[in-house]
Amino acid sequence: METQKWSIVALCLLGVLGSTTAKVSVSGPVEEENPEFWRAQGAKALQAALNRKLNTNVAKNIMLFLGDGMGITTITAARILKGQMHNQSGEETVMTMDTFPHTGLLKTYSVDFQIPDSSSTATAYLCGVKTNLNTVGVNAAARNGICKTQKGNEVTSILKWAKDAGKSVGIVTTTRVQHATPATTYAHSASRKWYSDADMPASAKKEGCTDIASQLLKNTDIDVIIGGGRKYMTPKGTWDPEYPRDLSSSGKRQDGRHLISDWQKMKVGKVARYVWNRTDFDAVDPDTTDYLMALFEPGDLRFDVERDPTMDPSIAETTEKAIRILSKNPKGFFLLVEGGRIDQGHHASRASMALHETVAFDNAVAKGLELTNEEETLTLVTADHSHAFTFNGYPFRGQSILGKSPLYGKDMLPYTTLMYGNGPGYKVVDNKRPDIRKLSSLFSPPFTCSFPLCSLLPCPVAFLSVLSSLVL
Ligand SMILES: *[C@@H]1O[C@H](CO)[C@@H](O)[C@H](O)[C@H]1NC(C)=O
Ligand SMILES: *[C@@H]1O[C@H](CO)[C@@H](O)[C@H](O)[C@H]1NC(C)=O
Repeated sequence: METQKWSIVALCLLGVLGSTTAKVSVSGPVEEENPEFWRAQGAKALQAALNRKLNTNVAKNIMLFLGDGMGITTITAARILKGQMHNQSGEETVMTMDTFPHTGLLKTYSVDFQIPDSSSTATAYLCGVKTNLNTVGVNAAARNGICKTQKGNEVTSILKWAKDAGKSVGIVTTTRVQHATPATTYAHSASRKWYSDADMPASAKKEGCTDIASQLLKNTDIDVIIGGGRKYMTPKGTWDPEYPRDLSSSGKRQDGRHLISDWQKMKVGKVARYVWNRTDFDAVDPDTTDYLMALFEPGDLRFDVERDPTMDPSIAETTEKAIRILSKNPKGFFLLVEGGRIDQGHHASRASMALHETVAFDNAVAKGLELTNEEETLTLVTADHSHAFTFNGYPFRGQSILGKSPLYGKDMLPYTTLMYGNGPGYKVVDNKRPDIRKLSSLFSPPFTCSFPLCSLLPCPVAFLSVLSSLVL
């Protein structure tokens, strides 16, 4: 019954929207009124496709760019945001990842769940083996969180295969380097949550399982490690250099090991640099550096819009440093670059964060292409799973992608263009949507919009869903 009621309401809303749409119109750029504008674009795209020669070379280098949680809707909305950040209307923007000559869609599920998490998916695309939710670098005979099922069920990743083939290897992420996606390049763990030994149950330790941070040093000799996650590397209570007064940022390890010092000791005779801030990072000369470990935060990095650029570099900058170090190897390299906080923005229903992360990630893709040659480098951009994130309503051309619909529903309330089907942004109470009319932005958008109606539409931060009631 609930479903029916919502269906009727939804139909009514569509009716209201439809009739309102007819009364309002906004025109686009004047050149778009000329049909030749579109025909010329079509001809150009077709000619580019016809001119393209199939590249059958063997790849010396592989760059795998992984947007965590970066589903199709996220890519579309981020594309518009990217244009709007450059004061364009946005819809016509082409992201770097859109320029690739080959595009496909992928299906994603884990052995035990319809919707997979980032460690089961990473095990699939990095190790070639589907597995169970929340497990890292193990096959599906291993059970989530059960140490004794792990032994003998380890599967190795493309990062290890590349290293074994004599290539240099690296991971660049915006999360802690022990997080699900990067961890799967080097670790085997029945639980993705075993970041340090303090995160493991006593029984798992007794049964011989080891934490993910310690495996960063043990399994594969990784040339470049960039992300966050200092606190999992140092003994319990060790002060963090950046946040010495914050207890939650201090070292977590119970085994007393200082993995950063251990890593440095392992590399004697090589030029191995550990850095935790921008000054030291900038001073790393890629030409003379063999190994780099850069951990910019105790845990995950900050969202790009909240990043202090004097302390932490962007993902484009970390990608650049990694490529410059790795590409010295004449046998080539494998590099995983993860836009890891796209997912975390979505989990918190913070669409603005998720989309700015996606734009920053696309900038890293551009940097990667700029520094490599496609004749010898295979570059992939993909995602591991999507989110309950939708893009709908009737926003005008050029309206802020983070804004509200100019058209109200039958309840006389506006919609946000972007909505979440669940999570903190899903807010329907007593069958009523929240009133966001007076809600203004909690952050200042870094762009202004040139279209007349945009100025009337402040950006809300509340993202909500009404229509997901229909499917539940
Ligand atoms: C966008 O426009 C604003 C206001 O005119 C200006 O301050 C800003 O520099 C512009 N940004 C870009 C990327 O062009
Ligand atoms: C960066 O790290 C180095 C090494 O710990 C330290 O000497 C330096 O003061 C740090 N710079 C900043 C700006 O915190």
